[in-house]
Amino acid sequence: MSDLNVFRSRHSVREYAREALSRSTVETLIEAATLAPSAMNGQPWHFTVIQDRALLQTISDRAKAHLLATEQALPGDAKRMLEGQTYNVFYNAPVLIVISAPEQSPWAVEDCALAAENLMLAAAAEGLGSCWIGFAQRLLATAVGASLIGLPSGFRCVAPIIVGKPAVTPSPVARRPATIHWIG
Ligand SMILES: Cc1cc2nc3c(=O)[nH]c(=O)nc-3n(C[C@H](O)[C@H](O)[C@H](O)COP(=O)(O)O)c2cc1C
Repeated sequence: MSDLNVFRSRHSVREYAREALSRSTVETLIEAATLAPSAMNGQPWHFTVIQDRALLQTISDRAKAHLLATEQALPGDAKRMLEGQTYNVFYNAPVLIVISAPEQSPWAVEDCALAAENLMLAAAAEGLGSCWIGFAQRLLATAVGASLIGLPSGFRCVAPIIVGKPAVTPSPVARRPATIHWIG
């Protein structure tokens, strides 16, 4: 129980093998997501699994255009990436899992983010790569984006997570030492 290696082995993966994931693998990751705590045990999450490559490409193209048109304060690097013709915000991963929740759910962001972290850690435990794709979030949180992926009425995207077999093992991203203020 004290093994932190799964935490150490989770990295955001940005290069994937083309291989699809089985339905049972995806269901295992989603089961892990639902083991997350949630405010007042509300469990407001809904999971949309997208494996249709043409749809993923469409969402990527529209997400890039949406961000470039609506975000005034994009950092230069992000703007250059999004302007790249061949840049796919999903890195051609075989699966996108969108975690959404009812718009009026008061703890939707916290609950879905915890579910997302569980899902990403479960992926790492299964030897899979994952990455939260903030670049897709803005589009998917609009009515147009929600309809592209068939979200239930009144649901809003919180966490778009790609998953797949990693094509390369990324180097760990360094962490700053934690600032800790001990009291007592
Ligand atoms: C809310 C959120 C949004 C993110 N959006 C993106 C994204 O759009 N594209 C991307 O390549 N990585 C994205 N990431 C991944 C971060 O860049 C990554 O977690 C960070 O650099 C630390 O690296 P690690 O996950 O490998 O430890 C996002 C992460 C979070 C938590």
